[in-house]
Amino acid sequence: MSAYSLGSLLHEGKAKRVHATDQPDLVAVEFKDDATAFNALKTAQLVGKGELNCQISALLFELLARQGIPTHYLGLGEGEHGGHWMLVRPVRIVPIEVVIRNLAAGSLCRQMPIEAGTPLEPPLLDLYYKDDGLADPLLTEARLQHLGLLDSSQRQELERLAREVNAALQEVLASVGLILVDFKIELGFTADGQLVVADEISPDTCRLWDRGIADSDDRILDKDRFRRDLGGVVEAYGQVLKRLQGVCPQPEVYR
Ligand code: TMP
Ligand code: ASP
Repeated sequence: MSAYSLGSLLHEGKAKRVHATDQPDLVAVEFKDDATAFNALKTAQLVGKGELNCQISALLFELLARQGIPTHYLGLGEGEHGGHWMLVRPVRIVPIEVVIRNLAAGSLCRQMPIEAGTPLEPPLLDLYYKDDGLADPLLTEARLQHLGLLDSSQRQELERLAREVNAALQEVLASVGLILVDFKIELGFTADGQLVVADEISPDTCRLWDRGIADSDDRILDKDRFRRDLGGVVEAYGQVLKRLQGVCPQPEVYR
């Protein structure tokens, strides 16, 4: 891998910082230990979370790439910028959070008369407008069209990719005894106009239940442990990484 040095801070979000590098086609993402929930009304520092989410995301991006699903992932950081650093292609993030739900949970059960755990077949796909100031509102087709963020073929491509991601993730997670309840992904356009999966895929952005545990709290291995003060957050994320390391291909370096 060719050496790079860090440049300016391009963006700081709730869980990550995005840095330029001295190479125009390379961006470095730093995963933070900060945990937030309920649009940052609840915050905490969870030592080790950043590194776990970075490593889990790298394995899952690698898995998607091997299945032909394009992502922004290029490799893990090196040296002093290892552990919680990921190297990615620069993308223009589409300000839409794509949520796929295989089982009902979370906001769906608060907003609709649907019992938690109800299977959703076909999986429900919801789009939210990514804007913390507006608390990421649910989009309708009409509002999406009005905003003009995507044309109809890009909209179809976004949905097609998200459903492919769901199928790939469900399969690998099932193979390590985890149920993918739901997840959120973000996508972005590369300089040459390709739509790719970006951001992160981690227990911060997925709901994951341990298939082998019946208790509805004990089985939770994702950020709901933090949202609901269940404790053992970092331990749960560590278990997700350990299981995935057993079955996922080691992330390659694509540079
Ligand atoms: P929800 O049930 O709160 O709408 O969340 C659905 C999924 O999306 C769940 O896996 C958590 C994830 N998610 C995020 O990654 N970021 C967010 O800001 C929210 C609200 C949810
Ligand atoms: N990611 C959001 C926040 O930081 C909401 C959540 O995940 O619960 O507040």
